[in-house]
Amino acid sequence: MILVGSDHGGLELKDAIKRLLVERGAAVEDCGTDNGNSVDYPDFGIKVARKVSAGEAEKGILFCGTGIGMSIVANKFPNVRAALATDPFMARMAKEHNNANILVLGGRVLDEATAREMVCAWLDAAYEGGRHQGRLDKIAALERELMK
Ligand code: RB5
Repeated sequence: MILVGSDHGGLELKDAIKRLLVERGAAVEDCGTDNGNSVDYPDFGIKVARKVSAGEAEKGILFCGTGIGMSIVANKFPNVRAALATDPFMARMAKEHNNANILVLGGRVLDEATAREMVCAWLDAAYEGGRHQGRLDKIAALERELMK
């Protein structure tokens, strides 16, 4: 299951990427927004990140105007590794090195073709583990410490 969520600034790109995900045969759940009215990105980022954090969904893709706001809110959640990417290389590295479980894209930054390429790069990449796992373990330990 791939969750998607956006504010008004990311809505158009979210709809385009939903079409891609359906083309790829993925199960998709849209957590909104569903129209162009101005909304607050945390409301939709929280819906996606909460479920990924709780293990109710394996991954999500968030969209806002720049991707910055959605990154900030999603990374408040334990177990969430949300990666704001701006090109296919970053999207691939987000999985290979960071095991990002949320990809964040800026609807006012990316054209549809680039975003499609990025989503495919992220979905098709494999986490490399190895030396990267020790780094992710340090982040997880920090999360536990900060939650005390
Ligand atoms: C909304 O205008 C805009 O601020 C939002 O989409 C996003 O870019 C925030 O980071």
